[in-house]
Amino acid sequence: MSPFQLTRTLPEDATDAALRADVLHGLTRSPKELPPKWFYDARGSELFEEITRLPEYYPTRAEREILVSRSHLIAAATGARTLVELGSGSSEKTRHLIDALLPELDAYVPVDVSESALRGAGEALLEERPGLRVHALVADFTRGLDLPPTVGPRLVAFLGGTVGNLLPEERREFLRGVRAVLVPGDALLLGTDLVKDEATLVAAYDDAAGVTAEFNRNVLAVVDRELGADARPEDFDHVALWDREHEWIEMRLRARHALTVKIPELDLVVPFEAGEEMRTEVSAKFRQEGVRAELAEAGFTLSRWWTDEKGRFALSLATVD
Ligand code: SAH
Ligand code: TRP
Repeated sequence: MSPFQLTRTLPEDATDAALRADVLHGLTRSPKELPPKWFYDARGSELFEEITRLPEYYPTRAEREILVSRSHLIAAATGARTLVELGSGSSEKTRHLIDALLPELDAYVPVDVSESALRGAGEALLEERPGLRVHALVADFTRGLDLPPTVGPRLVAFLGGTVGNLLPEERREFLRGVRAVLVPGDALLLGTDLVKDEATLVAAYDDAAGVTAEFNRNVLAVVDRELGADARPEDFDHVALWDREHEWIEMRLRARHALTVKIPELDLVVPFEAGEEMRTEVSAKFRQEGVRAELAEAGFTLSRWWTDEKGRFALSLATVD
């Protein structure tokens, strides 16, 4: 069998149907919103990789620092033979974990909505590790996990602070769903960005070079291309603000002037008032007690908590109750 296998658990047209449903729902409600998974077409995945290299975007470097220093402990504690990674993107940081788990590792199962990211990551990993078996899944992790048969013990990694892109209720449902595909002896490795001063947080989502702004506006390019819409990204400003009450960064697109967006595929004309804002993403920031409680509610026990030296980002290792 080829060391690289790719399975689509979504039917070819499911993405399209889901995008239509999300756009129809999101742009006809008040306030308008679009869910973040539509950022990640091939261009969006590229832009995100660029974000991870920005001086202001510390989460990637902080999480990599933890993975470099703790991967051997994670490997020893879990003895994982299958590593499943949700929202794996480029799998760039994950190689530290993979290398610590080899040679016991039977398979690496990266899961992402972005097929281009999965193919690129698989190729890069296998080039240097001919012994590795990669079974990539094109899937939406918010729609229930449908994993192929795997050898235990399993370690499910969810890195990058992506869990913070889910709203609290979605997070509950998501964590329960992860728990449901695991058995005692398996584990979860969760990366969470931590609450810190507002200036540092806002800068990470509103960089000086404007890459995050371009990433945010890319969601409009996706809607234009997939649904024949005529939104002009340059008609919208990128907004990133800290919501102190919810402890999340909120990303919005703000209409620069009154305008309408026609979406022929949905038979829809969407009016925007001048200055009207549409939420495109939240990125929740966490504290240890909150993470512990959310894990407990889903049937996990927080067993290890590691942060980078500066205490900006945390990796939690949780066992299955
Ligand atoms: N884990 C990587 C990438 C984080 S960016 C890192 O830490 O750098 C978030 C990743 O999750 C992207 O690759 C995106 O394509 C993927 N993603 C976002 N929503 C998703 C969903 N609902 N289902 C599956 N993958 C998703
Ligand atoms: N998981 C990343 C985060 O919340 C995703 C992300 C980083 C992001 N920068 C972004 C999403 C800008 C939208 C816009 O940190």
